Amino acid sequence: MAHVWLIGMMGSGKSTVGRLVAEHLDRPFYDTDVAVESAAGMTIMEIFERFGEDGFRERERTAVAQIADETPGVVATGGGAILDPVSVETMGAAGTVVLLAVDPDVLIARVAEDGDRPLLLDGIERAIRSIDRARSDRYRTSADVVVDASRPIETVAEEVEAICNAL
Ligand code: S3P
Repeated sequence: MAHVWLIGMMGSGKSTVGRLVAEHLDRPFYDTDVAVESAAGMTIMEIFERFGEDGFRERERTAVAQIADETPGVVATGGGAILDPVSVETMGAAGTVVLLAVDPDVLIARVAEDGDRPLLLDGIERAIRSIDRARSDRYRTSADVVVDASRPIETVAEEVEAICNAL
């Protein structure tokens, strides 16, 4: 048994799906954002403000490496974890990487209410479209499996669970 790493854009449902799947399969659930925040004793917003995106990615890389050594489970990663080649390599070496792929229009509707994502402060719609364009290749090449996550969260969780069971 190895980890199942969920990657994908902000709002793609990684944490919700990951938690559901881990619960159903009675496996541990990990969240790299939570790990980074608790290690730093700061919110992600504060880390970006004080150390910039590079400082955040460094901490995220450490969190990915630490989780890779834990008991295998389901891991929700931060949306930009795939930007760091070391994190991508660590994930690939420690399990299966599953992309939750969501249509940008669906994402925009989902994250419209959130105010806690530093990369979206400049205007949600424009930010999501440009982040999606900039990252879509990286998401696809980092993933072992792609799941259509524009569908209801329970359907997505069932498919991820089936993937875990088939591994
Ligand atoms: C980020 C996504 C966030 C968080 C940080 C940066 C990104 O995680 O790691 O705000 O670069 O896409 P979620 O995908 O869980 O929102």
